[in-house]
Formats: sequence, C-alpha cells, structure tokens
Amino acid sequence: MMFVALVFIIGTVGAGPTSEECPRILDAAGVSKMFAPMVAHSIHSLTLEGIRYFFKEDATEENGVPTVNMDLMSDTRILPIAPLAGYDEDFSTQSMKTFDLVMRNMNRTWWGLTNYNTLDKLTHAFHMAEVWDSAAEQYRLVKRLLDPESDICGCATNVAENNVLNYLNLMAFKIKYPGITSGNKTLTDHYLESRERRSADTMYRYCPGTVRPRIGEGSQADFDGIDFDLSDIELLKDIAEKLVDDGGIISVHVDSTEHWEVWRKKMKHGMGESAYYDLAVFMFCMLN
Ligand SMILES: *[C@@H]1O[C@H](CO)[C@@H](O)[C@H](O)[C@H]1NC(C)=O
Ligand SMILES: *[C@@H]1O[C@H](CO)[C@@H](O)[C@H](O)[C@H]1NC(C)=O
Repeated sequence: MMFVALVFIIGTVGAGPTSEECPRILDAAGVSKMFAPMVAHSIHSLTLEGIRYFFKEDATEENGVPTVNMDLMSDTRILPIAPLAGYDEDFSTQSMKTFDLVMRNMNRTWWGLTNYNTLDKLTHAFHMAEVWDSAAEQYRLVKRLLDPESDICGCATNVAENNVLNYLNLMAFKIKYPGITSGNKTLTDHYLESRERRSADTMYRYCPGTVRPRIGEGSQADFDGIDFDLSDIELLKDIAEKLVDDGGIISVHVDSTEHWEVWRKKMKHGMGESAYYDLAVFMFCMLN
C-alpha cells in the first residue's frame, strides 16, 4: 500500500490549493482520512529535541509544529511550535534523557498530563518515542519523493484549515478536563461550575482521568461552530455537548503486571502504518 501511495506523492507545484481541494490532494498522496487526529495525537507532546533526534537534526525553534502547552494553567492552550524541553545532555542515550525529563517533572502539578501516575507518564513518553521512531523511518522515504513546495505540503501544513489545530485543542481539553467528551453530564456540569467559580483546584483534582484519544475508528469529530480562539470557560459547554466521543476516563493504571498487560497491548497496536506515514508527510512538509 505504501508503494502505491508513493507513486502519487510527487505532486504538482502551483498557486496553493484551496481547503476544498485539500482532502482530494491528500487522499491522492496516500494520506489517510484520519490524518488530523493521528497527527494531533502524535505531535501533542513533541519537543524540539525530539524533532532533532527523530526527524531533522538542524531543526530550529521556528519549527512550526504546534503542540499542547504542558503548562495546563496557562490560557495559551496550544503553542505554535514544539519547544525545547530541556533534556539533560549529560546523559548519552535518548531513553535516559526521556526518563530523566519525566522524573524531574513528576511532582509538578497542572503540568503535562492529568492523572497519570509516574509509570503511566513514563509509558506515555516511551510510547511517543516509538511513534516518532516509526514515523522517522517513513520520513526518510517521504523525503526522497515529496516536494516541500507541492500542493500536498501546502495542504498538510495548513493546520488552521486541515483540522490538526482543532484536534490539538480537543486534546488539550481532554487533558485539562478528563472525561469532558464522555457525555456524562454530571461530570461535565461539574467542570462548568468549577470553571465558572474559577476554582481551578477542584477542577483538576475532581476526578481521575486522562487523555485517551479515540483514533483509528474511522469517524472524525465535527468542529463546525466551535471556535477554539474562545476561552475554556466559553467553550466547555459546547465541547461537552457537541464533541461527545465516548472518551472516558482511564481506570487502569500501570501499577501491576496485570494492568501492564492491558497497556502493553494498546501500546503495540495503538497506531497503524498509515498513521506513521501521515505523520511523516506532516513532519517533512512542516520542517522543510
Ligand atoms: C511526588 O510524586 C510522587 C508520584 O506521584 C508521589 O508519590 C510523591 O508523594 C510526590 N512527592 C511530593 C513531595 O509531592
Ligand atoms: C458520571 O460522572 C460522575 C462523576 O465522576 C460519576 O460519579 C458517575 O458514576 C458517572 N456516570 C456514569 C454513567 O458513568
């Protein structure tokens, strides 16, 4: 399937495609229908160090890869770039640097991910590294065939129009308000009330939860009428009502062999080949 895709990937250079033309252009390049949610899931915690290690050695802070702000108290939900995370370069392996970063931040509140225990956070960090590693392989192929000036790249990098930013915003909401899209009114009403009272403390401690992106299930969220430029408080109700996706709250943590088995299976089968290809196309187009 990959080879079929690559035959079409070269693409044409032109005046710049319209957002109506983009789905067809991306489809013809072998990019999957789940491009936006897959890419959002894969880049939400990307760092500049990660970009340099996995994708492009000389990438700069002007990398254009949007990420979810680790600082969950900030009003800035999405950063326009993947920032430097501050890896300790005294360590020589990428795994030790990754481990160290999680450990150094383990006691930071309202930071990174909500309601992950330390082993969950480590699992997440290493899982993302695996995703980037798989995408890096595709990146090397894509690099030989894709023109950064092509319409394909124009479409892939237009994050304001191609839903990548919408999905990143949705992820930020799911991280900040676990279970917000679960359709559980008791829970979502609580977030609304506590946000209205501006009592961030109860808001975050209320319920164990986490982001559990529902991807690869074929259906896309409908962001019609949702303006992510608005504040959390203005958006919470709409998100809770319009973007219900069954995204519940995680109940299984990495705290035993038995529970690890559950995560282990998910980590192995979480993303298919098409997701790595989608991410590779996105990263190549964005970084070149
Ligand atoms: C730091 O985080 C760990 C893991 O969540 C927790 O067990 C520990 O009590 C925390 N320590 C402090 C000083 O907050
Ligand atoms: C909805 O959320 C509340 C608060 O977390 C919880 O007590 C309740 O069991 C949930 N209801 C359902 C149907 O899951």
